[in-house]
Amino acid sequence: MNKNIFLVGTHWGDEGKGKIVDVLTENASACVRFQGGHNAGHTLLIGGKKIILHLIPSGILRDHVKSIIGNGVVVSLEALQDELNDLKSNNIAIQDKLFISKFCHVILPSHQAIDIAREKYLGKASIGTTGRGIGPAYEDKVARRGLRLIDFFNHEHLISRITSLIDYHNFLLSNYYKSTPVSLNETIDKLVPIFKSIKKYVIDVTPLMMEISTNSTIIFEGAQGTMLDIDHGTYPYVTSSNTIFPGMTTGTGIGSDKINYSLGITKSYTTRVGNGPFPTELKDDIGDNLAKWGGEIGATTGRARRCGWLDIKILNKAIELNNLNGIALTKLDVLDNLEKIKIGKDYNSFNDVADIEYLEMDGWQTLTKGIKKLKDLPKNARHYIETIENLSNTSVDLISTGASREDIIFIKNIFE
Ligand code: GDP
Ligand code: IMO
Ligand code: MG
Repeated sequence: MNKNIFLVGTHWGDEGKGKIVDVLTENASACVRFQGGHNAGHTLLIGGKKIILHLIPSGILRDHVKSIIGNGVVVSLEALQDELNDLKSNNIAIQDKLFISKFCHVILPSHQAIDIAREKYLGKASIGTTGRGIGPAYEDKVARRGLRLIDFFNHEHLISRITSLIDYHNFLLSNYYKSTPVSLNETIDKLVPIFKSIKKYVIDVTPLMMEISTNSTIIFEGAQGTMLDIDHGTYPYVTSSNTIFPGMTTGTGIGSDKINYSLGITKSYTTRVGNGPFPTELKDDIGDNLAKWGGEIGATTGRARRCGWLDIKILNKAIELNNLNGIALTKLDVLDNLEKIKIGKDYNSFNDVADIEYLEMDGWQTLTKGIKKLKDLPKNARHYIETIENLSNTSVDLISTGASREDIIFIKNIFE
């Protein structure tokens, strides 16, 4: 079988991408991350055990899957080490399964210090970042002063580049942000041994992906969501990478012609963590209940996620931007208790919360958790799904009815 699938969140992240990637990798040879870093938090629930992945692709749980980190990802060596230790303590094999691009840019402790200092400096105008140093690392990449994993292979060269970079960071930290500078020597002493321990995973991954994408099946795992895209999202309240389809091609070196199917992951309602506009946000009991029933606590920062109705205007934008072939609708079970359900259809601008056109329908008020067949869903739940299909002119091909790997309805075999 040769079928490559691109997978992306359609809103502001946390749509349940990790769970769907985990389901799909049963039929894949590789799983690839192409952008973002450990700002992501992808949750998998397997046999009652919860595993949260930040940097490592969600295919790592499966022994037949190669997990590949593409050049577009920014890598914190400390976060990578922590995550590897976490996987090892869960008895998950890594050897011969993990491959990291030597062209990945590295997130230094000073990038994180700048991220945190800047958010503090911005005060009320802050973005609400994850504080992981993602933005500053991408800034240095574009400014051509960044440090890549390949730089760690030559010690003298590394020392020269890291010295000037941290010197620059410390100038910013001390003089502009009036914050504490970081120690160059401590950084080197910390990162060099970590690099030595993970060096065996660091290669040029593009030829590997080229080969697998030609002969077998890759799942390209998007992080964050369409509306957090640096160019097409709710700027400046976005992340610092291209989260949408083109981010996959630049973040891997694999052409768009290799993708056979583009899958949007859409939550049955909408959430957002961090600041910025959110037209269908609910600031009432319904919003609080969705947060409670959906367990809407950030998988990376533990912050409460803001909740609201499903936003179709954004879904339609995501369909266009990512050339979506179909949708995986997740967390349907979270709506089980609602008497009435609304869908946000249209509004003039992101900031114009007063003028939103909603479509209201009856809820189903029966348990859908764990249902595996479309015909077993209550009539009103099927009506909700059909309404989404009609409003978006796109088919819902998978439905997730719970956090576990088994809680899934396959409507269409997207590998065919
Ligand atoms: P991601 O960042 O898109 O991978 O999503 P997160 O893992 O950050 O957040 C999704 C949360 O919803 C996690 O806690 C998942 O375990 C959970 N989840 C995923 N799918 C479902 C579902 O269909 N129903 C329920 N109740 N929970 C789900
Ligand atoms: P996954 O992959 C939800 C948000 C942050 C902030 C903005 C910028 O789990 O869906 P950053 O640290 O990237 O500079 O923060 O982006 N954000 C996410 N929100 N899910 C994520 O990842 C996110 N990654 C970043 O909250 O608003
Ligand atoms: Mg998440």
